[in-house]
Amino acid sequence: MDELKFSYNGVGIAEDELLEQASVLNNYREHLSDIVDRGDFLSPEAFLCLPSDSFSQKRIEDVIKEFSLSNLEYVVVVGIGGSNLGTIALYRALFGTQTSDESIQRSLPKLLFLDTTSPKKMQAVLSILKRNAQNAESFIINLISKSGDTTETIANFEILYKELTQEFGDIKSRVVVSTDNGLKLWKSAEKVGFSRFPIPKQVGGRFSVLSAVGLFPLGLSGIDTKALVEGALVSREKCLDEELLKNPAIMSATLLYYYYQKGITVHNNFYFASELESLGKWARQLTGESLGKEFDTKGETIHSGVTPIVSIGSTDLHSMAQLYFGGPRDKFTTLVSVQDKGEDISVPEVPVLEGLISGLSGKSLGSITDAIYGGVEATYKKLELPFMSIVIPEVSPYVLGQYMQYKMMETIYLAKLLNVNAFDQPSVKGYKQETRQILEERVLGGEDEKTL
Ligand code: PA5
Repeated sequence: MDELKFSYNGVGIAEDELLEQASVLNNYREHLSDIVDRGDFLSPEAFLCLPSDSFSQKRIEDVIKEFSLSNLEYVVVVGIGGSNLGTIALYRALFGTQTSDESIQRSLPKLLFLDTTSPKKMQAVLSILKRNAQNAESFIINLISKSGDTTETIANFEILYKELTQEFGDIKSRVVVSTDNGLKLWKSAEKVGFSRFPIPKQVGGRFSVLSAVGLFPLGLSGIDTKALVEGALVSREKCLDEELLKNPAIMSATLLYYYYQKGITVHNNFYFASELESLGKWARQLTGESLGKEFDTKGETIHSGVTPIVSIGSTDLHSMAQLYFGGPRDKFTTLVSVQDKGEDISVPEVPVLEGLISGLSGKSLGSITDAIYGGVEATYKKLELPFMSIVIPEVSPYVLGQYMQYKMMETIYLAKLLNVNAFDQPSVKGYKQETRQILEERVLGGEDEKTL
C-alpha cells in the first residue's frame, strides 16, 4: 500500500552528525515503545495507544451504524482547537474545501463546523439546517470539548440546541457529547440524557483526532476511518523504529532542533496541494501549543517555541516567496507534495492567447504543479536554505493517517529535545480567565443597572 516518502537531501547536515544528534532520543523512543506495548492510557503519551484501541473504535462504529439508519444529512461539529482541527483537516483534504450547493446535496452526511463565536457562522448553519433538514432525524449535533468548559463551544451549543429545538421539537436523541467522563460536562449531559463518548483523560485536544473526537464525525461523513487508523498504526511503527535513519519522526525532530539551536526557529510546512491547507493548520496548532512554553520541565524560564507557518504552493509563492528566498534566514522548510493529483485537466494544445508562455501547450495542471515544485526545490538548494521533503503518494485516509501520526510523534520527540512538556498549555489559561471575568462583570453590571 502507499506510504509517505521522506527525503533529506536539502538538510545541510552530514548523515553521521544527524545520527549522533538523533541518538539522544533513543531512551525516549524505547519508553514510547513500552507505552504502546502496554497500551498505557495513563501515561502523558496515551495518544499513542489510540490507533490500537479497537474496543473504542468498535463502539464508535456501532453508534455510527445506528445513526446512519436514519435519514442523516448533516452533522454539526461544535468544538474548537484540538476538538475540531483534525476533523476539519481530514474532511477538507478528502472532500475539498468548496462548500457549494452541489457538495451540500451530496448523499453523504455533510459536516458543518461551529468553532468561534461568530453570529454569521451560526446564522449560516441554522439557515442550512432550517432550510434543508426534513426533521430532527436529518441531523446530529456533536458537541466536543475535552475540558467541557470552553466558552465558545458551550455558547455555540446552547444557541444551536435552543434554536433547533424550537424548529424541530425534542432533539435530545440527536446530540452526542464527546468529553472527559470525569468532568462536569459529562455529568450535565448525562442528566439531560445526551449520548456520550469519553475522551481518554490523558489525551489532550491536539492529540485526540484518532479518538471519538475525530473518528465519530469523520465516520458519519463516510470517511474510511479504518484506513485512517491503519495508516496511523503503520506510521507509529516507523516512528518507533530503532534504525534512526528510517524513523521519520526522530529525523525531522532532530533536524528542527539542530536548526533551532542555530536561531532557525520558524518551521514552514509548505504544501503543494491546496486541499491540505487545513491539515497545515492542524499541524500548526500541534507545534504551536505543544512547544511554545514559558518554562522547561524543571520550571526554569525558557520561552521556547518553534513558530509554525503554513504555506500553499503555488498560491503563496505569489505572496511569500520573496520573504522566504530573500528575507531573514530563520526558517526550516518541509516541502510536501502530492503524487497522485486525481482527475487531471490540460491546457489546450492550441492556445487562444498566442506567444505568452512557452512550453505550456498541452500540459496538465498536475504537471505544471510538479514543474513549479521542482523550481521551488531547486531554489531552496541553490540558496542553501535548509529543507526536507515529504511525498504524499495520494490524498487518502490511509496516507493522511500516516501523516498525522508522524506529525504528532515528531512533536513529542522535539518537545523532549527542547525539554518542555508537550501536553499542557498553561499560558492559554490567562485569556480564558480574563474572558470569563469580563463576561461575569457584564452580568453583574447589568444587575446593578436594574437595581438603580
Ligand atoms: O489542544 C488543546 O488542548 C486545545 O487546543 C483544546 O483542544 C482547545 O482549547 C479546546 O478545548 P476543549 O476541547 O477543552 O474545549
